Amino acid sequence: MSESAQRQGDAFENLLHEERRFPPSEEFAAQALAQPSLYEEARSRGTEFWADQARACLSWETDFTQTLDWSEAPFAKWFVGGKLNAAYNALDRHVEEGRGDRMAIHFEGEPGDTRSYTYAELTESVKKAANAFESLGLQKGDRVAVYLPMIPEAVITMLACARIGAVHSVVFGGFSADALRSRIDDAEAKLVVTADGTYRRGKPSALKPAVDAALEKEGSTITNVVVVRRNNEPVEWTEGRDVWWDDVVDSASSEHTAVAHDSEHPLFILYTSGTTGKPKGILHTTGGFLTQTAFTHKYTFDLRPETDVFWCTADIGWVTGHSYVAYAPLINGATQLMYEGTPDTPHQGRWWELIEKYKVSILYTAPTAIRTFMKWGRDIPKKFDLSSIRVLGSVGEPINPEAWMWYREIIGGGKAPIVDTWWQTETGAHMISPMPGVTRTKPGSAQVAVPGIAVDVVDEMGQSVPNGSGGYLVVREPWPSMLRGIWGDPERFKQTYWSRFDDMYFAGDGAKKDEDGDIWLLGRVDDVMNVSGHRLSTTEIESALVSHPSVAEAAVVGAKDETTGEAVVAFVILRGSAKDDDDIVTTLRNHVGKEIGPIAKPRNILVVPELPKTRSGKIMRRLLKDVAEGREVGDATTLADNTVMQQIAASLRK
Ligand code: WT7
Repeated sequence: MSESAQRQGDAFENLLHEERRFPPSEEFAAQALAQPSLYEEARSRGTEFWADQARACLSWETDFTQTLDWSEAPFAKWFVGGKLNAAYNALDRHVEEGRGDRMAIHFEGEPGDTRSYTYAELTESVKKAANAFESLGLQKGDRVAVYLPMIPEAVITMLACARIGAVHSVVFGGFSADALRSRIDDAEAKLVVTADGTYRRGKPSALKPAVDAALEKEGSTITNVVVVRRNNEPVEWTEGRDVWWDDVVDSASSEHTAVAHDSEHPLFILYTSGTTGKPKGILHTTGGFLTQTAFTHKYTFDLRPETDVFWCTADIGWVTGHSYVAYAPLINGATQLMYEGTPDTPHQGRWWELIEKYKVSILYTAPTAIRTFMKWGRDIPKKFDLSSIRVLGSVGEPINPEAWMWYREIIGGGKAPIVDTWWQTETGAHMISPMPGVTRTKPGSAQVAVPGIAVDVVDEMGQSVPNGSGGYLVVREPWPSMLRGIWGDPERFKQTYWSRFDDMYFAGDGAKKDEDGDIWLLGRVDDVMNVSGHRLSTTEIESALVSHPSVAEAAVVGAKDETTGEAVVAFVILRGSAKDDDDIVTTLRNHVGKEIGPIAKPRNILVVPELPKTRSGKIMRRLLKDVAEGREVGDATTLADNTVMQQIAASLRK
């Protein structure tokens, strides 16, 4: 086992002593949508289980003739021959079937402004946006970069693209102009949809300047920039390129027919960090993605679209905001809440106030948020009426048992079941999760594969490990919402996910099976960090650091952090001429912010005289992690120069 997997294995021993068990209440179990028979059905139907779900969750214009074509593995085709339109499934059909008056989105802006869209209204808005985009020359297959805050136009834009068959590539608003440009270039996007800005911590925060900066350098494939007016701050304007959303969308016709696309037609690209410097454009297609997101949204959250109010707090810039904000809730005809801002504006009870106000019944959020609320204290949520909550979800990183218990007691009133959902940008939808009403939950464990999904934990040789042991998390069988590849790089797709083990998908996570066979996730086993549930690449941040003229060499590690799970800690060697002072640390932090985005800024930058390397020149991050986490430095005998760690320790004492 690799060093990091071993280290995680040790940490796991503590978890194994977790004895608390929370079976579903009899009342919940009796009425739950997911019953034990769902697992039996999945087992007995095999691949055809997904054909059943595809037909149950979606309206197909043309039914498919083959459930799975795996003949060109690892390139999968699901629901072969089927045709459907994603936007029609999310919108029009609800209106046609008499659900037009149901609330689709309650939107609350950070300043407290509100808007709401029924299914009929959202359908009309998406039709208008589709017409507007087409009038700008957008066609099926074209790529659209979406650089928007959490406002309804984000969802409208994504669905308008899907309606036309254009492929959206959402870039998180916290990414820099450079990061936006490299994603525009990689996907050869034609259109950017952005906003003048948004609100952050009670103040306007700009977005459009980043788009302008991204497009400053010549040679981009962008022909138009559509700008949503959100905070009414003044913006620079490029005539002929920039158009206001209000001008093109508001005046567009609200008649638009959704043409059905092939089940395998690309739906979106979403860039995520890998182990090398260059982000990967993860490609998802239509039929399989929609099937598994809708299926999991229904069963893992026990969704009752007529009565529930669902709130997924993720930004649309991440996959969670794709699968469980833009698509699944609408496919399932649910009512959801969308909130633009930060959790502590204007006060630290904002989320709980929103839950009380909109009677949110299903909350889906990340452990890092829960830990932040724990720090703020239970008195804050206690001031609000949270009795509407009946299911709680967690996603993005392992949830520590303390946070799990707090979530259950303080937010869930000691009775709402918690579903800890493990999945990835690449998997598109939940893969491991308890089913509320079936699974006897354990604080801190994601536990069991979703019905129809074949996950396992294997050793170095790819052998399934026995209960009580750890190893690597893999997926043994193709699944409907699996990534179909990396945009423009089929080799990297095979190399990254399918070469570590024969015929198995390698997720990059370490995991253990406990005595009952339940799965506990242990974090990444590669050079990918998880900061507040966001994926960051150590190599990408190292590249950003060495691109600064003052830096000779850099090594980045993820160090344990009480709130964010992991934090970025950088070790840098300065060039001869550069000075080691506070300024350089600030300069380098800002430099990383400019190159990648504020989320990638290191928590600490430590200037050191040397980096620990093996004889073959590989940086031993394990030792740096020991330093960053304030531990005794581990075995350093394989270093090329075994005095390096002392030199580092001495320089940090200074
Ligand atoms: C990585 C994927 C899934 C949407 C958000 C993140 C970690 C995710 C869990 C969980 C333990 C988790 C894994 C995974 N992760 N959910 N419930 N328990 N770890 O998507 O950015 O693609 O990151 O997040 O390490 O590989 P992503």
